[in-house]
Amino acid sequence: MDTAHKADSNPILIRSAEPEDAARIAALLGQPGVAEGLLQTPDAPNASRLEYHQKIEPHACRLVAVADDEIVGSAGLHVMGPGLRRMHVRTLGLCVAAEWQGRGVGRKLLTRLLDWADNWAGVLRVELHVHVDNDRAMALYRSMGFLEEGRHKAFSLKNGRYVDSISMARMHPQPPSIKISAG
Ligand SMILES: CC(C)(COP(=O)(O)OP(=O)(O)OC[C@H]1O[C@@H](n2cnc3c(N)ncnc32)[C@H](O)[C@@H]1OP(=O)(O)O)[C@@H](O)C(=O)NCCC(=O)NCCS
Repeated sequence: MDTAHKADSNPILIRSAEPEDAARIAALLGQPGVAEGLLQTPDAPNASRLEYHQKIEPHACRLVAVADDEIVGSAGLHVMGPGLRRMHVRTLGLCVAAEWQGRGVGRKLLTRLLDWADNWAGVLRVELHVHVDNDRAMALYRSMGFLEEGRHKAFSLKNGRYVDSISMARMHPQPPSIKISAG
């Protein structure tokens, strides 16, 4: 397929992920070229991811990128635990369908998530793990203000070998404050 033509003629719509998108998101996460960068296992049934993507997470932001009625990207900022003292933190998940990678879809999704975090949800820290060999993801994160915080040895098994991961985080560039006017 001519992806350049496809990208030109089909604008990308970014919108909230709805429970009825769950099957298509679950399939996207399992695609070759996508699953490797995440922590998905090849040949896991899509149904194993279905329930998670049908759930509404009240303190999360979940988005999809849609082109020509197809879900071509999925992204989220998630609360990792119930602790009140970590309510200013969200963990990032992001993926784009293999044939759409390198065309700006990931940047569009991340831009929208960071707008939600910065301006609507009071998030001060967005954190993530990325495999050390994932150059494209790291380039995107660095360009959006994420800094490297550490290297985790043998973080996960990937195609027969243990790979390190890098933890990265982005702090709110200008946390909102309450202005109290005198009088
Ligand atoms: C990582 C991922 C989400 C990025 O989304 P994307 O739509 O492919 O990325 P974009 O096109 O928006 O932007 C990538 C940026 O990295 C740059 N880039 C692209 N390929 C690159 C490469 N091989 N090496 C370094 N930088 C690269 C691009 O130039 C672009 O920057 P620019 O906008 O300044 O030109 C996507 O490739 C993906 O889903 N990969 C598989 C799953 C995955 O690894 N998810 C991340 C887990 S942490």
